[in-house]
Amino acid sequence: MDGNGRWAQAKGLLRIMGHREGVKTVRNIVEAAKACDVKILTLYAFSTENWNRPKDEVSGLMGLLKKFLQSELTRMVENDIQLRCIGNIHALPKDVRDVLAATIDQTKDNTSLILNLALSYGGRNELIQAIQTMAQKCLAGTLAVGAIDEQTVGAHLFTAGLPDPDLVIRTGGERRLSNFLLWQSSYSEIYFCDVPWPEFNKAELKKAIADFSGRQRRYGKTGEQVSP
Ligand code: FPP
Repeated sequence: MDGNGRWAQAKGLLRIMGHREGVKTVRNIVEAAKACDVKILTLYAFSTENWNRPKDEVSGLMGLLKKFLQSELTRMVENDIQLRCIGNIHALPKDVRDVLAATIDQTKDNTSLILNLALSYGGRNELIQAIQTMAQKCLAGTLAVGAIDEQTVGAHLFTAGLPDPDLVIRTGGERRLSNFLLWQSSYSEIYFCDVPWPEFNKAELKKAIADFSGRQRRYGKTGEQVSP
């Protein structure tokens, strides 16, 4: 969800105004994703590196997140949306953690769309934690080194139980992954779009999905092998 800060600054506004506008886009895109029959939508809302931003911006973002969770609960329940999160959740302020836990609990039986928030998330950090847990299990004798395969690693990530993303969209004009789902996006289709997140909308989402639909996913095979 990149481009909030620059969108605001270009309009002579404070960066936090861009994030506030970005929350409106979150609401619209959740609704649009559901309408497009997307089953899992992961939003990169706050990275491990974002803690290094100015204090005011960090606390502003935490406030927006809490307000979003409080105001969206009814809509999530009505629209059959299940909230989940990935990341170092313990690093979030307690009031945010509490609302997050309550929202996750109250939406846990919903099945139409999983809305997965990446919060205090970093792909490298996720891999380090997974490696540490697996190493501890090896030392304890509950996991054999030779038994560690792709499934084992996947099962130790925050995303355990969720499929890898088919499509990763980055808004705001930059062309990099910035520590997002590094393991999981090995074979994802990447879509870079110049539109800043506050201006991203259903039409742009549909454009990204249409672009994705036209791609041939070969997973290392030849074109002839995957569509003879
Ligand atoms: C990146 O844009 C965006 C963020 C670091 C925060 C995204 C957060 C929200 C949209 C609001 C809170 C989230 C939810 C789910 C309610 P940037 O500020 O780095 O953009 P820039 O590159 O233009 O500075």
